[in-house]
Amino acid sequence: MSNKIKKIGVLTSGGDAPGMNAAIRSVVRTCAYHNIECVGVYRGYEGLMEGDFKEMNARSVKDIINKGGTILKSARSKEFRTVEGRQLAYTQLQKKGIEALVLIGGDGTFTGGMIFNEEYNFPVMGIPGTIDNDIFGTSHTLGFDTALNTVVEAVDKIRDTASSHNRLFFIEVMGRDVGHIALNVGVGSGAEEILIPEEDLGLDRLVESLRRSKNSGKSSSIVIVAEGDKIGKSVFELKDYVDENMEGYDVRVSVLGHMQRGGAPSCFDRVLASRMGVKAVESLMEGKTNLMVGLLNNEIELTPLEKAIKGKSKINLELLRVSEIMAT
Ligand code: F6P
Repeated sequence: MSNKIKKIGVLTSGGDAPGMNAAIRSVVRTCAYHNIECVGVYRGYEGLMEGDFKEMNARSVKDIINKGGTILKSARSKEFRTVEGRQLAYTQLQKKGIEALVLIGGDGTFTGGMIFNEEYNFPVMGIPGTIDNDIFGTSHTLGFDTALNTVVEAVDKIRDTASSHNRLFFIEVMGRDVGHIALNVGVGSGAEEILIPEEDLGLDRLVESLRRSKNSGKSSSIVIVAEGDKIGKSVFELKDYVDENMEGYDVRVSVLGHMQRGGAPSCFDRVLASRMGVKAVESLMEGKTNLMVGLLNNEIELTPLEKAIKGKSKINLELLRVSEIMAT
């Protein structure tokens, strides 16, 4: 394995996700293993443009594999979308002697990295970190598995009170404009209905399905609503519609929000992060760039950033059918 690169930077960008710290740890330790200097960049592209750097060594990343969030902080940067912003970033990298970057984030992060590479021929490698699991080229993004477990635990708690009061709950979950969290949690929590952007159930069919559940003797119901769902403008309007069109149900809403992004990463995410960090650094050492590491058939593979960004992560249709059968 060639080892011309002497100094690598690592940053986290976009919505944080459990497992990002484990990935930072893996990047730093893989650099140390190969006698490559590693520099942490705070606050994603914002910190990059400001030269907000921290020299990292194997000890800098102790005790973080089990921590949610990101010790390097994260930010969404509008300025990096400008030529001037990227020029600033390049100047900072030159000043610090950083020769390549590992970018931990989502499609927005990778888009910025790809443009930066085109403009400056600067080597970049992506690690997919977002709870949404909406990135092409990997079966799992970092944080997705942890978020599923966090959300299913929250839904179980809500089901306790729903069944105690014979209530119908609409529970909104994150996922931006895809339904992976909603679909998996819906099946995992035994929800009566799952509303996802990829499938337009329609309000009347929803009411009909809920009526069927009630007639089959269900005294309470859980409906998981992906935040990107198109069926109703908001989960609160769904409640109003069901209130007006269904008798006999006391309806409530719970929006889980940002707690879905927190918590200690699952073992799966810690292992995935560790594998991805090694692959990212060693791919840069081999002179590769503009690629994203991903999990495909349980192997760590490389996908061109352009494909990762442009590709669509498909909903699991078999799982969708399972959810329909389970709602019987
Ligand atoms: O991309 C991760 C995510 O949590 C989405 O699921 C959600 O829609 C978005 O970030 C929220 O963004 P912010 O943290 O900026 O409010």
